[in-house]
Amino acid sequence: MRIHYILFLSILTLGSCKAPNPNNTSTHGVIGQKAMVVSARVEASEIGKQILMQGGNAFDAMMATELALAVSYPYAGNIGGGGFMVYRLNTGDIGALDYREKAPAAATTTMYLDANGDVIPELSTRGALAVGVPGTIAGVFAAHDKFGSLPVKTILEPVIALARRGVVVTKKQEARLNEKRSDFLKTNTDTILLAKQWKVNDTIAYNNLANTLEDIMLNGRNAFYKGHIAKTLVRFLKENGGIITEADLANYEAKWRTPVTFHYDDLRIISMSPPSSGGIALAQIMKAIEPFDLQAMGHNSVKSIQVIAEAERRAYADRSYYLGDPDFVNVPQDQLISEDYLKDRMATFSFEKATPSTAVKHGTVDIIESDETTHYSIVDQFGNAISVTTTLNSGYGSKLYSSELGFFLNNEMDDFSSKPGVPNVYGLIGAEANAILPEKRMLSTMTPTIVEKNGTLFMSVGTPGGSTIITSVLQTILNVHEHKMTMQEAVNAPRFHHQWLPDEIRMEPHSFSADIIEALNQKGYITNETRTPVIGKVDGVLILENGTLEGGADKRGDDTAVGF
Ligand code: DON
Repeated sequence: MRIHYILFLSILTLGSCKAPNPNNTSTHGVIGQKAMVVSARVEASEIGKQILMQGGNAFDAMMATELALAVSYPYAGNIGGGGFMVYRLNTGDIGALDYREKAPAAATTTMYLDANGDVIPELSTRGALAVGVPGTIAGVFAAHDKFGSLPVKTILEPVIALARRGVVVTKKQEARLNEKRSDFLKTNTDTILLAKQWKVNDTIAYNNLANTLEDIMLNGRNAFYKGHIAKTLVRFLKENGGIITEADLANYEAKWRTPVTFHYDDLRIISMSPPSSGGIALAQIMKAIEPFDLQAMGHNSVKSIQVIAEAERRAYADRSYYLGDPDFVNVPQDQLISEDYLKDRMATFSFEKATPSTAVKHGTVDIIESDETTHYSIVDQFGNAISVTTTLNSGYGSKLYSSELGFFLNNEMDDFSSKPGVPNVYGLIGAEANAILPEKRMLSTMTPTIVEKNGTLFMSVGTPGGSTIITSVLQTILNVHEHKMTMQEAVNAPRFHHQWLPDEIRMEPHSFSADIIEALNQKGYITNETRTPVIGKVDGVLILENGTLEGGADKRGDDTAVGF
């Protein structure tokens, strides 16, 4: 947004620093007076809310919601995967937690390549070798140890009760299970609970997962990393050809990180730092588009799609070259998000014609030497906010399921670059920075994000969607900020995505007019409405002008907001 426009708007709004008044707009999400939980399943949102109503805070609700998703949304909710959390306390303090999986100690750079140096299909995506050392239990305990207020028992009891009571199958879940059944049977030596012909409205009880959660409730994180669960898991992985050892589990630590922060107009964006590329790429794109008047161009107009897609193209080219685990590679974060650098990157952009991706390489910065997912947002009644994205990577991860322990294992190893230049399941290309090394964390696109406006809490937002995560979070923030949508409208709005390679704009089908697509094609953009029919499932919470909270839950999934 241009400066003169900011001045004009601030006169119009008489300095108001919050989102539009709820009474002035048409489509609203759920409104809460004090607190809000938005997640992929109603059962998980309700358990999170229940914990808040018992006096717990956002971090207690995080443990409850995360583990309730592991029960109610096994597609991506997990204890066999990992994630990232960004927080903003009511004091204004911010931080980030990395509970990303890591490569086992026995991992090697070429572990997915054959004797000719070619990638062996499926080795990094299905079965035990695809599994990274899980981080979720370490993550929820680290957050709870630092900020939680209720006993673990109080938090886990309703989750365990849900697992024993069972969870009703939705229409969307039935479709997902049907789609993956053959993979479940191909990957596991015996049939598994979720391979049965489950139908909508059936109830699935998860008794073995309930037992695992009970062990964790009674014995803490060590039950998972050093106790009975660790031993059972390692034996199971080994039987299936995996290389994770008891030492890998015992050594796993969640890490506190400093989030990426930057300004866009009067917003301050707080997002995830490496080993996710989310925050840096979001910063690159937003800083690159800030000089353009997107509001005047109009939502999803040809011009605004051009500006955003070209900024995305350039950011994803940098992502693939520069980003990796900051404990292993030197990520030139400050240079990559500096205004001068981004101005330079956009210098080749013209409204007349698309910049082909073949003409875009990573930018030049001086490296100073020294080094299927789910999202939930929670704002508690004390004013603390968290934004959490957690994943098994693909839907049901590696498809490998420990029947004894009751959970799926991730296939996060595919987020490494198995071979420079060869795309992963999301078509993302990687380089040396994201090569596999023992104990290294694989690069992510997860972008849990919190937004402040004029110094106060404004939004908590995030989404699944692999490579499309960053661009979906971006568009949701822009929809609210530039186009004055409500949280729910911003979530509902059609989305598009460019990731440098392949050189195409992916668009949600039946959402963009033939005129817009034609105009983009004429300028040299390849558009693709089939590759990613659903771009993201965004969940967010917006603080409204009157201090109440609006939850935006994405109906592309079974996502649900609950507040009080
Ligand atoms: O960390 C990442 O970027 C991916 N493993 C995320 C996967 C994902 O979002 C799948 N959901 N649709």
